[in-house]
Amino acid sequence: MSKKPLKVAINGYGRIGRCLLRALYESGRSDNIKVIAINELAHIDSMVYLTRYDSTHGVFPGTVEQDNSKIIVNGDEIKVFNSNRPEEVSWHDLGIDILMECSGQYSERTELHRFIESGCPRILLSHPGASSSDVDKTIVYGVNHSTLDDKSRIVSAASCTTNAIVPVLDMLHSQYGVNTAFLTTWHSVMNDQPLIDGYHHHDLRRTRSAMQSIVPVATGLAQGVERLLPMLSGRVHAKAIRVPIHNVSAIDLVTNLNSTVSKEELNNFLKKSTNKLKGLFAHSERPHASIDFNHNPHSGIIDTSHTSTSSSGLANILVWFDNEWGFANRMIDVAEAWQKKFI
Ligand SMILES: NC(=O)c1ccc[n+]([C@@H]2O[C@H](COP(=O)([O-])OP(=O)(O)OC[C@H]3O[C@@H](n4cnc5c(N)ncnc54)[C@H](OP(=O)(O)O)[C@@H]3O)[C@@H](O)[C@H]2O)c1
Repeated sequence: MSKKPLKVAINGYGRIGRCLLRALYESGRSDNIKVIAINELAHIDSMVYLTRYDSTHGVFPGTVEQDNSKIIVNGDEIKVFNSNRPEEVSWHDLGIDILMECSGQYSERTELHRFIESGCPRILLSHPGASSSDVDKTIVYGVNHSTLDDKSRIVSAASCTTNAIVPVLDMLHSQYGVNTAFLTTWHSVMNDQPLIDGYHHHDLRRTRSAMQSIVPVATGLAQGVERLLPMLSGRVHAKAIRVPIHNVSAIDLVTNLNSTVSKEELNNFLKKSTNKLKGLFAHSERPHASIDFNHNPHSGIIDTSHTSTSSSGLANILVWFDNEWGFANRMIDVAEAWQKKFI
């Protein structure tokens, strides 16, 4: 580990922005990665309050105080900006190494380039680029993080769903060959849905009450997978369904493998492969419900009790993931892997 800490700023202090900050402290990496600034539209009082108290992840296990326009977390000072044009914040004066873009509002190269012009030398996105050419790299930690380099300026940490399924498809393809993959994500609600019906989103289904319905929503997961695993182009199909729970999601994978495999053999392979991705992936055979994985830092947990196979090469695999906490931890992993390339 490099001796010089990484200096980062967070743009957009919502679910992911706050989980990111908190995961730094809870995983003991706040000495290596220093959050020195946050830009967010909300008032600083609310930012302090929601850092301290989180309905999903509990009370912050440390101290969170306010000092005028600063938040002090465990004694560390974080300068707060309230700009809705964050590309105009004088990032240059802060001397940051990476801007963690967690507002979800910027995904095109032209708009991201404005951050670079205002003093952010590197940007790590909490979401995919609008297209693969809008970012220099899309990274799923554990699969392609070794490709990070000191020349890249705009990097995406992909999405929570991409992090949960790409390692699984990668291991399956290298062992058996993946012919076709159908992915159904059962995703917890997000802040882009209203609590009760409201004119909240241009996607009509996202105008519907998050807590009253199972809501199918558009997803770019198939394209996200293909960006990481181009050999599967045209062979991945995905749909996403929001379900009225506050956190933790699951992906139901149905795949047509190029060879026939028994359930036992497949599970043995999945267990062996996930053991090689220690800290990133896990497996479990216990009779779980989603809440068991709340605050779980893995990208995915394969539930081997649900695996099934057919004599025609079909395989069905269930992967659980904490869409907030797992992904926030991966953003930190990507930042640290990137740090090694330029500090
Ligand atoms: N939640 C997840 O499970 C998850 C997992 C992986 C990736 N992601 C991705 O991460 C991004 C953020 O998701 P989230 O769930 O954290 O959303 P969120 O809770 O809505 O947080 C986004 C925050 O950014 C603020 N914001 C909006 N425009 C801004 C701007 N121009 N400058 C600075 N801050 C701004 C928002 O304020 P207002 O509320 O006032 O607009 C909000 O506080 C999205 O792209 C999402 O797809 C989310």
